[in-house]
Amino acid sequence: MNLTVIGTGYVGLVSGACFAEMGNRVTCVDVDTKKIENLKKGIIPIYEPGLEPMVARNIENKTLFFSTDLKESLRKCEVAFIAVGTPMGEDGSADLKYVLQVAREIGEHMVAPLIVVDKSTVPVGTADKVTAAMREVLDARGVDFSFHVVSNPEFLKEGDAINDFMKPDRVVVGSDDAEATEKMRSLYAPFFRSSMDRLITMDVRSAEMTKYVANAMLATKISFMNEVANICELVGADVNKVRIGIGSDSRIGYSFIYPGSGYGGSCFPKDVKALIKTAAQHGYTAELIGAVEDVNDRQKLVVAQKVVDRFGEDLSGLTFAIWGLAFKPQTDDMREAPSIYIIKELVKRGAQIQAYDPKAMDEARHFYLKDVPKVAYFDSKYETLKGADAMILLTEWKEFRSPDFEELKAQLNAPIIFDGRNQYNDGKLRQMGFEYYQIGKQS
Ligand code: UGA
Repeated sequence: MNLTVIGTGYVGLVSGACFAEMGNRVTCVDVDTKKIENLKKGIIPIYEPGLEPMVARNIENKTLFFSTDLKESLRKCEVAFIAVGTPMGEDGSADLKYVLQVAREIGEHMVAPLIVVDKSTVPVGTADKVTAAMREVLDARGVDFSFHVVSNPEFLKEGDAINDFMKPDRVVVGSDDAEATEKMRSLYAPFFRSSMDRLITMDVRSAEMTKYVANAMLATKISFMNEVANICELVGADVNKVRIGIGSDSRIGYSFIYPGSGYGGSCFPKDVKALIKTAAQHGYTAELIGAVEDVNDRQKLVVAQKVVDRFGEDLSGLTFAIWGLAFKPQTDDMREAPSIYIIKELVKRGAQIQAYDPKAMDEARHFYLKDVPKVAYFDSKYETLKGADAMILLTEWKEFRSPDFEELKAQLNAPIIFDGRNQYNDGKLRQMGFEYYQIGKQS
């Protein structure tokens, strides 16, 4: 099929590359000329395992193209995906200005019947707004090409996006038109080798809602476990054991119940807020989902509080080695990363920071911690330790999982670890003489 993907962010780029990989002819369009020029050369603006070679391969195979010319790309297009950002508006609702702008541009340039797919995470009712925006422009042009707006939310995880797209747990297609549904079914058929059961079709509004509910449910699991972790500490239980104890019940399951320093990233915080806002706009107070957000805000500072409990309110003259800045491993994404909040809290109290992350240091240095003083960046995890009063682990990158603890002891001023991701065996560390602080278990 001939496809256009508008917006070359995470979702757009991964979707475009994966559709091309399946033999479609895909043009990815963006207004950012520099970005498009780089993409044409195979230069990817984000770190996502497997994406770069896939893009390069498909550029070479002439299945993947990059352009700033939406009009040209729509000339032979059958399905156009809107994958532009929906940033959080000041009031917490999703800001649809880019989505609706693209809808109007599609209306301006389309020259044949078209399926328009909302791939961005958009609130319930957006497909209707996209339809109205396109209709208005087509009417003004005095043309009447048929089109259908479909909701096809994306469920990919950063760091594992290619896998998620190529072997999806499920694909949700929301459409109020049978023909459009069939077209989407044939587009996705190659991704389901054994059975098409995992292609779930429904009406547009339910599909739009599904995306928010999936993210809010996952965020709820995390906040629930973080709250449980805090209670475990108080009552002398070990959340790591409790987690295994409850996860073994297949109705609960093991996934997404790891306590830590709170969820971050570009999706959960934004989508949880937007769902609360949508409910409020309809006169409903989403109490549980609101609490998920509050618990998460509090959880982001738990590690900083542990440091203060150990060293006192005034941290001046102290240095902390931070291992991990990204909001999770396998990404350079720092959006809403707990590390930002924790580092700011420590610096505010006078501490000096020595940080290392395998991928996110540029993001931190140039954007997220740009205005935070007293943060120095190092090229390796062991270098950060020299002269530091404690190590604080904030992202569970594989290279942090089994470090040389003797080296840690040798480099740190004192053998103290604050573990915001519960990565280590506390018994072993204590035997080696470490003071070890983790989430959800008394030290
Ligand atoms: C999330 C969803 O998992 C995807 O399904 C969804 O498509 C995506 O948002 C989106 O809306 O685009 P992502 O933001 O990439 O994906 O990250 P996750 O792997 O879900 O992790 C989110 C946060 O939860 C991270 O900060 C992670 O550290 C935290 N987390 C996750 C926990 O604290 N505990 C857990 O058990 C699991």
